[in-house]
Amino acid sequence: MIDKQSPMPIYFQLERSLRSQIENNTLKPGDLLPSEREYAEQLDISRMTVRQAITNLVNEGLLTRQKGRGTFVAEQKLEQKLSGLTSFTEDMKVRGMNPANTLLSFELVPAETKVAERLHLKQHTPVYEIKRIRLADDVPMALETVYISANLVKGLTEAITASSLYRYIEEDLGLQIGHAVQSMEAAIVNEQERAHLLVQKGAPVLLIERNTFLKDGTPLEYVKSSYRADRYKFTIDINR
Ligand code: GLP
Repeated sequence: MIDKQSPMPIYFQLERSLRSQIENNTLKPGDLLPSEREYAEQLDISRMTVRQAITNLVNEGLLTRQKGRGTFVAEQKLEQKLSGLTSFTEDMKVRGMNPANTLLSFELVPAETKVAERLHLKQHTPVYEIKRIRLADDVPMALETVYISANLVKGLTEAITASSLYRYIEEDLGLQIGHAVQSMEAAIVNEQERAHLLVQKGAPVLLIERNTFLKDGTPLEYVKSSYRADRYKFTIDINR
């Protein structure tokens, strides 16, 4: 694994070797790595060198350090295509994963300025504010707040939000979802997100805002969500 005669720095050789063990699945997601001391002794190299290789892989997201427990191989990220207007439930089912929601709050509130603007409503029109943790195979993936006009989406209940909102809107209400405008930006978790997403302080998240419209152009929802950047990556097809 290490060739001390090689002009290639030793930390780099170790980093490359660990990366290929992760890629070819010799080291699997969730595996506990030997300690820095063990690697150092086994390979007869310094702990500083081991630490450098491991830190680089932690920064790349291939390994995670857990305080007092050690260094683990990170879970593979879910790859999400950005080409279709899909719901969380649909996305998880396509992958063969089990979607679930933890409802944090479900309230009828007067639309404040930004929400009213996004939903093309007069300020203080009643809107549902629904906060959910979205889970895949019991792992929290995203924290999501949906604002939806109460006059448009009638009969919404807490029970409905426990499964799929889009299913209710399309199948039960017969409304036709048309398109959405979505933005994405990087951030560091805040305290509320950290508690619900079960990530460490300072963990990265992807903030996604979606404004969805019905086929006839009526604004349907304004959604703010924080996706775990350690579990999600988004891909998009682009043409020239
Ligand atoms: C995704 C979208 C949201 C949408 C939700 C509906 O998470 N980002 O804008 O409200 O899906 O999901 P479901 O139908 O599973 O409730």
